[in-house]
Amino acid sequence: MERLDKILAGTGRWSRREVKELIRAGRVQVNGRTAHDPEEKYAREGLELRVDGASISGEKFTYLMLYKPAGLLSATEDARQKTVLDLLPGHLRRTGLFPAGRLDKDSEGLLLLTNDGGLAHSLLSPRSHVDKTYFVRVDGVLDEDDCAAFAAGMTLEDGLVCLPAGLERLERADEGLVTLREGKYHQIKRMLAHRGKPVRYLKRLTMGPLRLDPALAPGEWRPLTGEEQAAIQRLRRV
Ligand code: URA
Repeated sequence: MERLDKILAGTGRWSRREVKELIRAGRVQVNGRTAHDPEEKYAREGLELRVDGASISGEKFTYLMLYKPAGLLSATEDARQKTVLDLLPGHLRRTGLFPAGRLDKDSEGLLLLTNDGGLAHSLLSPRSHVDKTYFVRVDGVLDEDDCAAFAAGMTLEDGLVCLPAGLERLERADEGLVTLREGKYHQIKRMLAHRGKPVRYLKRLTMGPLRLDPALAPGEWRPLTGEEQAAIQRLRRV
């Protein structure tokens, strides 16, 4: 039998002091119930440990759903600007998490943070055909010609060839839903600028089977549920 704080600190993710704080804050679950005392003793074998709901015992990788707010970079570090990793507590920043797919600094919405490089690659590869949907608000009025141009695929002035994509008009004439299967730099902004309707607001709603949790506020995150993890694992390319 070993002390809980020792077992957790032994994972290398937290110092003993941090572990004690996590336990006292009620953020550690052992075998399904919340632990309160760093000195509780357990046998390591078969122990199911969770921190903030994320399993840290059996699973090799971490998967978090983040509601990216505007103003942060989709990167792991930057000399001058804040990145999405600055939204996470220290122990999670040290697990090699990175954003699987980028959103522009001024864009918002669903971002998957993981340290599973193979899965991120599968999700982002155009060959995997993982659709992403975005809510957009533009300067101007979206019309049927815009929808047809998206559906046909377009070639921009700078030579960028865009695959056929979806554009669905919403009740407000300046709002729509865009569905993309690729993710070139500033793609939606460039496609809509090409149509003479610059983007004013952009928010990613879905990525394959993942849907931005309506319970999350901008800047908030949560571990993927078991079901969500299973759904994205099915996309893994062998
Ligand atoms: N397309 C863009 O132009 N920006 C994003 O952040 C995502 C898609």
